[in-house]
Amino acid sequence: MFSGQRRRFLKQSATAAMACSMDSLLGPFALAQAPATAGDIAHFYVDSRRTTAALDRNLFGSFLEHLGRAIYEGIYDPASSLSDSAGFRKDVLDEVRQLGVPIIRYPGGNFVSGYHWLDGVGPRKDRPRVLDKAWNTIDSNQFGTNEFMAWSKIAGSKPLMGLNLGTGSAESAAALVEYCNVEKGTKWSELRRSHGIEQPYRVEHWCLGNEMDGPWQIGHMTASEYGLKAQDAARQMHAVDSSLQLIACGSSGPGMPTYLEWDREVLEQCYDDVDALSLHRYLGNTQEETGRDSGKFLAMNLSMEQQIAETLAVCDLVRGHKRSQKKLWLSFDEWNVWYRERSGDAVNGHEHEAPHLLEEVYTLEDALLVGGILNTLMRNADRIKIACLAQLVNVIAPLVTNASGLLRQTIYYPYRWALEFAHGNVLNLLVESPTYEVSGVGRVPYLDVAATLHPETGGISMFVLNRDLNKSQTVEIHWQDRAPNRLLGSTVLTGGDLKAVNTFEAPLRVAPQPADKPVTSGERTRLELPARSYTVIQWAS
Ligand code: AHR
Repeated sequence: MFSGQRRRFLKQSATAAMACSMDSLLGPFALAQAPATAGDIAHFYVDSRRTTAALDRNLFGSFLEHLGRAIYEGIYDPASSLSDSAGFRKDVLDEVRQLGVPIIRYPGGNFVSGYHWLDGVGPRKDRPRVLDKAWNTIDSNQFGTNEFMAWSKIAGSKPLMGLNLGTGSAESAAALVEYCNVEKGTKWSELRRSHGIEQPYRVEHWCLGNEMDGPWQIGHMTASEYGLKAQDAARQMHAVDSSLQLIACGSSGPGMPTYLEWDREVLEQCYDDVDALSLHRYLGNTQEETGRDSGKFLAMNLSMEQQIAETLAVCDLVRGHKRSQKKLWLSFDEWNVWYRERSGDAVNGHEHEAPHLLEEVYTLEDALLVGGILNTLMRNADRIKIACLAQLVNVIAPLVTNASGLLRQTIYYPYRWALEFAHGNVLNLLVESPTYEVSGVGRVPYLDVAATLHPETGGISMFVLNRDLNKSQTVEIHWQDRAPNRLLGSTVLTGGDLKAVNTFEAPLRVAPQPADKPVTSGERTRLELPARSYTVIQWAS
């Protein structure tokens, strides 16, 4: 498709890089053009002294909402022979523990804006069956805060707790903090103890509501109303526990009419009382967004790059207005590909328990874009401290359960690689890549790269998306200060069919394969990246 095109090169430093945006709802976007360079191959310049930031493990978090089969039948299924005595699916727990998911957002999402946390604690027999109005689903409340904390402990992950600032009050938010974090001697800590939990959980990270800018959100309000409520909640919560890290709700996406203006107004109100601002993004290969052009789809992580830059600009604008010393960080607490199971019965539980909702089946091209998104998050690790792949099990998820087992969808693999191989400091690479033309966008680099350097071991991991749908791309890596000693591994996710999926019947149709070994000679390494691929390479120092 792009083979006959005149090729140009985009030169960029990875952090500032890829300065382009794309969003169907934003219309065409402009790429920062860079001088064309001669040659036909890509060049990555690596200098271990040039780093962006230490990578926060929470950059690779995930999300579990009371939605569809995420909790019920996903992680909790007491009727299943695959579950332990607490009703937790052992296969799911093992997988999550092995992945090493550092932080998991809970219990929503849209669900949280109508959720009364008191319904989900205490003796199970007394818990009410409730109609969740966000997803028109019956929630038995058999799984609640204490079950989530117990599950998270076994899974080895920390909670990122969502608060109901829709129907819930600032007072009930602070009460949940007291229930979770105060040791004893107060109304809500004693309630927890009466529920058999002596030790406080000391939950550090809290989301002040969910997508409150969205008209679909229960309790949706204006930015100034939300800013006031978030401020009130933050102050009451900090009175209970001053060590909390609090995340205010930013815009739900660049398509919102109030995009950035919402963020500004909210922060003008509550900047001093919060630590971070949230952002969300779901991408799709739809007629509206990409014209179903896979080349365009695979460039969409670059529009997230712009969303991050724009949101940070607003945070820093308000910081300037306030003459504040404090710099906010970002919580990209919902991101994924999601566009097929997004309307009609896919989002309506019809008042059933654990209905099949948002059960997106992921393709190879989705996995490649997820790899690109992970690269984007890594390149922005200086300001993004938490990010959550939405979600973890069954609902727009890398993992799917059925009565007899667990399936790894295509997007599982890039996520797993990030968790396994991205450690230490993110390297600020200088990248020159051949480019291709994307309609309404401009020229997009074929190659998208992120790399990390472990400060103690000196190990380097490099993650490369090749957006070229037709042919492989050659890269020359220039080790500017020192070349690594030894190749530890190179693995690739690729295939001939961009629409290939994994199923319970054919679970490995899209799975990692050994990649061509990069060849190092002196201070240079040559690398061949197959068409339509996402590759991870690791070297020891
Ligand atoms: O993750 C699915 C839904 O997407 C969440 O409930 C909501 O916050 C977002 O719109």
